[in-house]
Amino acid sequence: MNMRKTLLCSFVGAALSLSAVTSAYAATTLKLSHNHPRDHAVHKAMSQLAKEVKELTDGEVKIRIYPDAQLGTQRESMELMQNGALDMVKSNAAELEAFSPAYSAFNLPYLFRDKAHYYSVTDGELGREILDSSSESGFIGVTYYDAGARSFYTSKPIKTPEDLKGLKVRVQPSPTAIAMVKSLGGSPTPLAYGELYTALQQGVVDAAENNIPSFSLSRHSEVSKYFSLDEHTMVPDVLVISTKTYDKLTKEHQEALMKAAKDSSEYMKQLWAESEAKERKKAEGMGVTFVQPNKAAFVASVQPMYAELEKSNPELSQLVKRIQDVK
Ligand code: GCU
Repeated sequence: MNMRKTLLCSFVGAALSLSAVTSAYAATTLKLSHNHPRDHAVHKAMSQLAKEVKELTDGEVKIRIYPDAQLGTQRESMELMQNGALDMVKSNAAELEAFSPAYSAFNLPYLFRDKAHYYSVTDGELGREILDSSSESGFIGVTYYDAGARSFYTSKPIKTPEDLKGLKVRVQPSPTAIAMVKSLGGSPTPLAYGELYTALQQGVVDAAENNIPSFSLSRHSEVSKYFSLDEHTMVPDVLVISTKTYDKLTKEHQEALMKAAKDSSEYMKQLWAESEAKERKKAEGMGVTFVQPNKAAFVASVQPMYAELEKSNPELSQLVKRIQDVK
C-alpha cells in the first residue's frame, strides 16, 4: 500500500470510530430518580439541569427524571444505581450517611450559624470534598440543592424539648438524626418518606420533622396542624451519579454536567425561597399554626452530641470543626 492509501485508510478508520463514538454519545440518556412531586422546587431545579445539559452537549447527553419515588424509595434508588439500573439519584445528606460517614456532619443539629455559613460550606471546597467522599461506594455527589431547615411537626405545639417527651418521632434512616431525637427526649422511629403520611394519620408515629415545602407538598399538613420552627438541622439534598456512568462520559460531557449542576443549584436558592413562602401560606390556609419555640433550649439539649462525637469519632469531629471554621 502506498503512502497516500495508508493515510486515507487511517483517516477513514478514524472517522468511522469517531462517528461510532458520536452516535454512542447521542444515545446517552441518564436516568435520575427522586422522591418528590413535580411541583417541588428540587424537581424544577433538576429539570433546568436536564435542559442545560442537553444544550451544552448538543443533545448528546440527556437526563430523564423519574419523580415521586416511581422507581422506589431513596434507599431503593441508591441500590438500583449501585447495580447499574439507574445513573443518578437525588437523595439527601441524611440518607447518604449510611454510604459515606462524612455526610453525617450535615445531620448534626445547629451546626450552621446561618444560611450564609451553610452556603459557604456547600458551595466551597469542603462541600466538594464531602461530595467526592463516596467514590469507594460507587458514586460521587454532583451537587447540593438547598433544602432549608428542618423543624418538628405534630398535632400539638412543640415549644421546648420537653414537649417531645413520649412522642414517637419519624426520622430518616440516619444514626445522627436518631441520636438527635433521643437527646431531645423523643422516641426516634426511622421510616421511609413515602410511608410517613399514613404513619402519621394512623398514629404509628406522633410527629415528624422536615422543611416547610416537603411538609406541605407531601400533604403532611393535613394531619399535623402545628409546625414548630425550631430549625434543628439544615440537611442538604444531594444529587449523586454512579461512578461507572460518570467515568463513561467524555471529559467535555463531565464538565457540561458539572457546570449545569452548579447553575441549577444556584437557581434552586431562588426557587427554594419562593417555595418556602408559598408553601407556608398554603399550610396556614389549611389551618396549620407555625409556632416560635424556645430555640435556645433546643440548642442546649443537643450540645452533648458534639462532646460525644469528639470522643467516639475524632476524625468526624475534625471535619465538623472544619465546617464550623468556614467563614
Ligand atoms: C426532604 C428531602 C428528601 C427526604 C425527605 C425525608 O424532603 O428533600 O430527600 O427523603 O426530606 O424526610 O425523607
